[in-house]
Amino acid sequence: MNHADKNVTGSISRSLDGEWLLAKDGCTRAVTVPHDWAIGGPFEPEGACDTGKLPYRGQGVYSRTFKLSAGERARLDAGGEVYLEFDGVMAAPAVEVNGQAAGGWDYGYMGFTLPIGRFIAEGENTLKVTCDTTKHDSRWYPGAGIYRSVWLKTVPRDHILPGSLFITTPEIASHAATVQVEYALAESGPRKFTFTVANPVLWDVDHPHLYELEVEGETFRYGIRDFAFTADDGFILNGRRLQLKGVCLHSDLGPLGMAFSHEAARRQLLTMRDMGVNAIRTAHNPPAPGLLDLCDEMGFVVWDEAFDKWDGTAGRAADQPLEEYVSRNLRQFIRRDRNHPSVFVWSIGNEIPPASASYPDGVTRERCTLFREVCRELDTTRPIGIGAWQACTAGCFEDLDVTGWNYARRYLPIRGMYPDKPIIYTESCSSFSCTGFHQLPPPRGRKDYALARRLTDGYDLTAAWYSDIPDAEFHRVEKDSYLAGEFVWTGSDYLGEPSPYQSGFNATAGWGLTPAELHRSSHYGIVGLDGIPKDRFYLYRAYWNRSAETAHLVPDHWNFPDGQRLPVMLYTSGDEAELFLNGRSLGRRRKVADVPGYPVDHDDKDNENAESWDKHPYYAILPKYRLIWNDVAFEPGELSAVCYRDGHEVARVSLRTAGDPAKVRLELDPYSGAEADLVFVRVSLADAAGIRIPGVDTRVAFALEGDGEIVSVGNADPAGLDSFKDVASHPLFFGYAVVVVRRTGEGEIRLTASVPGLDSAEFVF
Ligand code: GAL
Repeated sequence: MNHADKNVTGSISRSLDGEWLLAKDGCTRAVTVPHDWAIGGPFEPEGACDTGKLPYRGQGVYSRTFKLSAGERARLDAGGEVYLEFDGVMAAPAVEVNGQAAGGWDYGYMGFTLPIGRFIAEGENTLKVTCDTTKHDSRWYPGAGIYRSVWLKTVPRDHILPGSLFITTPEIASHAATVQVEYALAESGPRKFTFTVANPVLWDVDHPHLYELEVEGETFRYGIRDFAFTADDGFILNGRRLQLKGVCLHSDLGPLGMAFSHEAARRQLLTMRDMGVNAIRTAHNPPAPGLLDLCDEMGFVVWDEAFDKWDGTAGRAADQPLEEYVSRNLRQFIRRDRNHPSVFVWSIGNEIPPASASYPDGVTRERCTLFREVCRELDTTRPIGIGAWQACTAGCFEDLDVTGWNYARRYLPIRGMYPDKPIIYTESCSSFSCTGFHQLPPPRGRKDYALARRLTDGYDLTAAWYSDIPDAEFHRVEKDSYLAGEFVWTGSDYLGEPSPYQSGFNATAGWGLTPAELHRSSHYGIVGLDGIPKDRFYLYRAYWNRSAETAHLVPDHWNFPDGQRLPVMLYTSGDEAELFLNGRSLGRRRKVADVPGYPVDHDDKDNENAESWDKHPYYAILPKYRLIWNDVAFEPGELSAVCYRDGHEVARVSLRTAGDPAKVRLELDPYSGAEADLVFVRVSLADAAGIRIPGVDTRVAFALEGDGEIVSVGNADPAGLDSFKDVASHPLFFGYAVVVVRRTGEGEIRLTASVPGLDSAEFVF
């Protein structure tokens, strides 16, 4: 709440984002917070692929100055306080105000608040934040620096203590809901009151209604909703079963790295929503508070996860006692997030192996029970769970309210042991693909990766050895309807963990790839690192999004050598379609209603390659979710399809063979707003008739005039080593790249993209 007045009631909160100085490696430069010092690279070609081959390890000191306004000064002088709120600093930040140590925090994904009133000077104040990532361990790219927002909050003497306010809705009926508000005042102590909302409008995924409430001069949002995770019927929201159509998301935002941006997160969530997603798992750490704000506003059910492991990947130094570290961070996490109506479950970790002599940081029943109690001290309205992969030994998950299971029906043992416990499929799929590349002939099995090309196939037929393609998961989740839906690994590609071209994967497979041949970002995403949907996006959209029609042809282009024989697949929300090549019908196909007897369990035979892809029993499931015309002989021209449902036409799609490249094309990303502070523009090439040129890796040069700047350029190449911050030019990957433009003023922005010999493109906004 922003009170610019001079009286001393109410609080004044303002952002300290924007220009800071960063001193690092002997030089000082101006940077914009939220900031990620490692995202610009340079990439280290032989560097650690798991963390994105980016130089995130190091130390840096951020500084800036600020002055209190008259209103802020008045509050402080009247006995108030000044708080510095950090949404997240990677890692181990130590904060100084006017040269005096003000505190810090250990876990880089966790926000923290410091009282700094006693250090405030008349006039200018200097703020210094030292970040040290040298000890932060990670299984993916964690970023580095002040990567989330910073706030300055000045409060009156008897203010609400940070993190103390909790709004709950203990009784909800259609005619009235009881709202309970608890908080602690700095001087007067605990407060509690209740009130009634008549005819409450419920928060739901389709209608995320938020209420506002003013408490002690500050405004808070809350939602009224009723939910339960059940053992036999999944997730119930406001009295009806809601199938969780979820995705796991890491916190990086592709070419922007870890630097949080409201607009970039919004674009990501809009993309997910268009696919039909209604649930997000914050893998595997507390997300930016801004992401939860968006989930509240847009209507996503959030599995809010505090940790991956409880070891160095949680920023815990070996000499920090595990129980204290995890409990303290959990308390901070729950205080921070418990007023978000989108949050439905607290997760205390992910795939933590059982504790053993060789892995003392593992799960035990005592630890799960302790951490559940820690969460319950602060919130009894949400269940507490964990994401798991190994069957629980010695009843270690017995005291948790729900358990989440990752891949291939690993939930069966716990279903047998605790039939009354709800189960969530917290990770499904882990399938791979690079859009624009279609392996021919297609993969002959789930593990037939395009190793020779160092790519993964776009027909959506491959997955990690322990996991499955989307179709097999759809079928499994339908059959095991007690599950509260699935969270696909992952909604978007992310930096790091570039399986299958990742060190562990490579070693297990015995491929002998050199470090330089390993990739730097994932192949798992349903959208690429540039945020552009892969073919797989439309497979989900066709099945999940019930409010829009989908028709997408795979391959996503019609440029092949003459006579090339290939399968054509169609991802459609229809149940039937007819395919035409240059006006000739190639036949009408209908989805099958079910595939009786199709295994929902893994079978070793799934790991073997068949003689050809269409003979593999594992792919018997495909006709339930996609339409396939096998062995089409390519000829240039137009490939088109007409889709039907119940005999009525619902959608059409067509691809035309592109001629020679003639021009560069710039188009507003459909999930980005031209009026926003940060705008995403897609780059591609087209022929003279405007048909997109597929498959090209042409380098495109960029220039910008006017009130803006190019902040990053990127494409979906999991192996690319061009810096995202070298914005003068960037190659396309299979025909696409994305330019991210920040508005710096009110005036016009003119972005141009050029390639020698082609017509340039201009985008004015
Ligand atoms: C899971 C793990 C994720 C990610 C994924 C890749 O087992 O929880 O963090 O590593 O595998 O398939």
